[in-house]
Amino acid sequence: MTWSNNRRFLLPAVLSAILCATTAAHAQNEAYLAEQKALSEQLQHGKRLAEANCQQCHAIGIEGNSPHPTAPPFWSISERRPVDTVARMLLNHMKPEGTDMPTFQITEKQATDIATWINWVQPTSHGKRLVEANCGACHATGLTDESPHAEAPPFRELHKRYPIEALEEAFAEGIESGHPDMPVFNATVTQLSDILAYIATLSTEE
Ligand code: HEC
Ligand code: HEC
Repeated sequence: MTWSNNRRFLLPAVLSAILCATTAAHAQNEAYLAEQKALSEQLQHGKRLAEANCQQCHAIGIEGNSPHPTAPPFWSISERRPVDTVARMLLNHMKPEGTDMPTFQITEKQATDIATWINWVQPTSHGKRLVEANCGACHATGLTDESPHAEAPPFRELHKRYPIEALEEAFAEGIESGHPDMPVFNATVTQLSDILAYIATLSTEE
């Protein structure tokens, strides 16, 4: 099979918007910028490969159902296996038993870039990008950082204070109605659930 390199690639608007926002917040950090640039090249390459070779069966983006009835959407792969094993799986021509999934002639770089793309669309990665871009100006969004806004509670503290259902409600409300100094963020169902998926990791990774 051939890997098409001449397909036009269109980053979804939301993805580039998030990249820009993330980039702007760290404009002073050159190492970070170089890393982001390399990442975005990998992501674009990984996405092109997924479009050309996987998308006839798998949903390859952050949401949606697969065209193939038993092919898992890429955003759900982390429920089945650690995403960092995907590149190896492709390189070793392994595939789930008893399925029509083909194996691929694939280089190390191609496998890594597809895996990087698959990692990018996992709910927790998507949720992390969303909170960094939309909440990080005030709230601590990681495991050890401090909230830039003194009164904004670090998200990892919220998780300790509230049971998960109450937290979902607080987030849905906080996100959709806005709060002191905070612009309303009209989250989609997927964005909201991915933000919550990310917040949940802050408690399990302690
Ligand atoms: C012809 C359809 C088809 C194509 C094309 C295809 N897949 Fe699949 N893939 C499947 C099916 C079906 C499954 C689920 C098999 C099962 O029941 O476990 C699957 C499963 C997977 C899994 C999960 C494996 C596991 O052990 O949990 C990964 C990862 C995956 N595919 C990656 C890819 C990638 C990357 C591409 C493109 C380079 C691709 N697939 C192309 C049909 C396809
Ligand atoms: C401009 C600053 C700012 C931004 C941006 C911001 N917040 Fe807040 N947030 C605050 C402050 C200040 C508080 C504490 C005051 C309060 O509870 O009303 C707060 C409180 C909260 C609470 C309630 C905590 C509690 O104890 O009830 C939640 C939930 C929350 N924010 C979620 C978010 C989410 C999700 C985002 C991003 C989509 C976000 N915030 C973005 C400033 C901000």
